[in-house]
Amino acid sequence: MEKVNAVITAVGGYVPDYVLTNEELSKMVDTSDEWITTRVGIKERRILKEEGKGASDLAVKAVNQVLEKSGTSPDEVDLLICATVTPDHVFPATANIISDKCDIRNAHSFDINAGCSGFLYALDAASRFVETGSKKKVIVVGAEKMSSITDYSDRTTCVLFGDGAGAVLLEPTTENVGVLDSKLQSDGFGRVYLYQKAGGSVKPPSHETIDNREHYIYQDGRHVFKHAVSKMADVAVEVMERNGITPETLTWLVPHQANMRIIEGTAQRMGIEKSQVMINIQRYGNTTSATLPLCLWEWEKQLKKGDNLVLAAFGAGFTWGAMYVKWGYDGDKR
Ligand code: ACO
Repeated sequence: MEKVNAVITAVGGYVPDYVLTNEELSKMVDTSDEWITTRVGIKERRILKEEGKGASDLAVKAVNQVLEKSGTSPDEVDLLICATVTPDHVFPATANIISDKCDIRNAHSFDINAGCSGFLYALDAASRFVETGSKKKVIVVGAEKMSSITDYSDRTTCVLFGDGAGAVLLEPTTENVGVLDSKLQSDGFGRVYLYQKAGGSVKPPSHETIDNREHYIYQDGRHVFKHAVSKMADVAVEVMERNGITPETLTWLVPHQANMRIIEGTAQRMGIEKSQVMINIQRYGNTTSATLPLCLWEWEKQLKKGDNLVLAAFGAGFTWGAMYVKWGYDGDKR
């Protein structure tokens, strides 16, 4: 029997209109454009300002684009997976809400929370459903309203995050393209360095947790930084080597956008040029589960069938991983 691969056949993305610049942040906390640019590489990020809107509203825009571009009717979708750490509610799953808002009714849907590796985890899971023949049209969406858990009085975290969503459609193919390999890992020792302290079952919301600002992102940046560089680079190099990809045959590295220095460190370890790396951190900041699909969305027109892509991420958990994707279509023909 011919091997079935899961191939990306369409990409969508969305970022909200409001642009939060380093200059505006400098008026809110003791920081500067110079510090943020040199230490992190971010110039601006997008923020969802509208009252009553959540991650699902960002996701809907990206998912509808994917449906439209691929000529897929909502009825044909048979699975939708949403990667997010900022769900609309603790329950039900944001994937259920997105499906409802997009009129996707013949599918099952669920969320994956794997920090900034969420999209990679979701894409890996989705590709298994397609490879086994269990599902034919699967949407994977990474969507985050990071501004809803960002403390805009904490200069060590508020400069980092932004809102946005990106989505892909996965379909079966017998050609040698699509998701060809992946290596995902997690190690909970890292859970104390990057998390939201209250709001879960260990520490339900109370006046005290609000007063202590425990519903916002807590991060020990130095610890996270140290592990992010080595783990993301190690796994990206391993996936590259075991698939016989060299710096010359790699078309694009698609890295999680958390810090320009982490991206550069990973590229250096892989022995590749910066021109081979998708980088949009300067405009969107860290959109957690949305960084990878937002890169694919922005670079789609330049992508060619047969291009070798390595996707790599590191995030809260700790979670990390890398994936080898051979691109399945000429983006300029879309
Ligand atoms: N403006 C000015 N000064 C600042 C700011 C700021 N915005 N933020 C911190 N500083 C100060 C600190 O207070 C500190 O001052 P001190 O020495 O007087 O105490 C100094 O700058 C250095 O602070 P560090 O935390 O050591 O700065 P670092 O160079 O490590 O950069 C950063 C911080 C950007 C957070 C970095 O550690 C980082 O990128 N970490 C990893 C982030 C990441 O990958 N996260 C994972 C994904 S996110 C997810 O999963 C949701």
